[in-house]
Amino acid sequence: MMRESRWLFLLLFFLLFNSVDASSQEHGSDLVKRGRYIFSLAGGCACQSVPRGIENAGGRAFPIPFGTVYSTNITQDKETGLGNWTDSQIHDAIVKGSRRDGSKIIPVMPYEAYSGMAQEDLKALIAYLKTLKPVKKATPGIYV
Ligand code: HEM
Repeated sequence: MMRESRWLFLLLFFLLFNSVDASSQEHGSDLVKRGRYIFSLAGGCACQSVPRGIENAGGRAFPIPFGTVYSTNITQDKETGLGNWTDSQIHDAIVKGSRRDGSKIIPVMPYEAYSGMAQEDLKALIAYLKTLKPVKKATPGIYV
């Protein structure tokens, strides 16, 4: 009898442990799905990619009065994208328009409009950005 209940306990423990793990994984992917949705709503996919070019690798030209600014690579590439950025650096670029070196992003990137985004939505957006497959492509920044 003791032996049977020990097995029953182990079985229950196993089922409980596995279900907790599965639900936390599902939670993570829900966050990414939500982030992807927010990214589309915010127009990120249109601006951070050249039409019919590599998705999110930047390079789309925006003519402004004193030159042309190009969107940047926001994939997870460590050298040319956001691969080495911390969550808080990505957060500040989106809502404050700050680059990692503290300089200001040209406001073609609508960070003013994003500054009121809910923290939960930003968290989801950043989680989604971190899933973007790294693509090596340096973008020129601004040409005057
Ligand atoms: C939620 C959507 C968006 C996200 C997450 C996002 C993310 C970023 C990040 C992190 C940077 C800085 C990267 C770096 O300095 O290396 C950036 C730059 C830039 N973004 Fe966005 N962006 C979004 C939407 C847009 C939209 C809608 C536009 C166009 C209307 C845009 C245009 C640009 C441009 C032109 C730059 C480069 C500006 C500069 O070099 O000064 N972005 N974006």
